[in-house]
Amino acid sequence: MPVVEADVSSEIDLGPVDQLIDKYRQQRWGLLPLLQDVQGLYGYIPPRAIPRIASGLGLFPSQVQGVISFYALFYTSPRGKNVVRVCRGTACHVRGGKTILKLVKNELGIEEGETTADFEYTLETVACIGICALAPNMVINNTTYGQMNPRKVARLLNRKDR
Ligand code: FES
Repeated sequence: MPVVEADVSSEIDLGPVDQLIDKYRQQRWGLLPLLQDVQGLYGYIPPRAIPRIASGLGLFPSQVQGVISFYALFYTSPRGKNVVRVCRGTACHVRGGKTILKLVKNELGIEEGETTADFEYTLETVACIGICALAPNMVINNTTYGQMNPRKVARLLNRKDR
């Protein structure tokens, strides 16, 4: 299945970003809430919006980019409706987490950090979900699934459209 390009923001209307910037114009402290507002509007922060945000707040684009990179909660590419996170922590790794990740990649047809072309799924890995005793584990949106095996992966992610 084709994968979403990293930056599809060239087709996006950035007009609403200017309205959001107006709330914080030339107020550097407003960067975090503004980024949250922009992400709330688009589901991610379009890279083309970064220079506008920077000039609106009196910052350099590199400063805005730096903040976006620092906080894991900000994204600069569109994400899927469902976010699948496979644990790559030690406990999960020794109990087959690598195989689970491979199966999930095959099932979704994407690599780590990518989103399916229909925006249904984004695949990520995490350092530890915190339920190591049930390894290997994965999370889909807010639901955790422990003791994963190939059958469970197929059941949870079986996509009939492919
Ligand atoms: S290592 Fe996977 S949940 Fe802790």
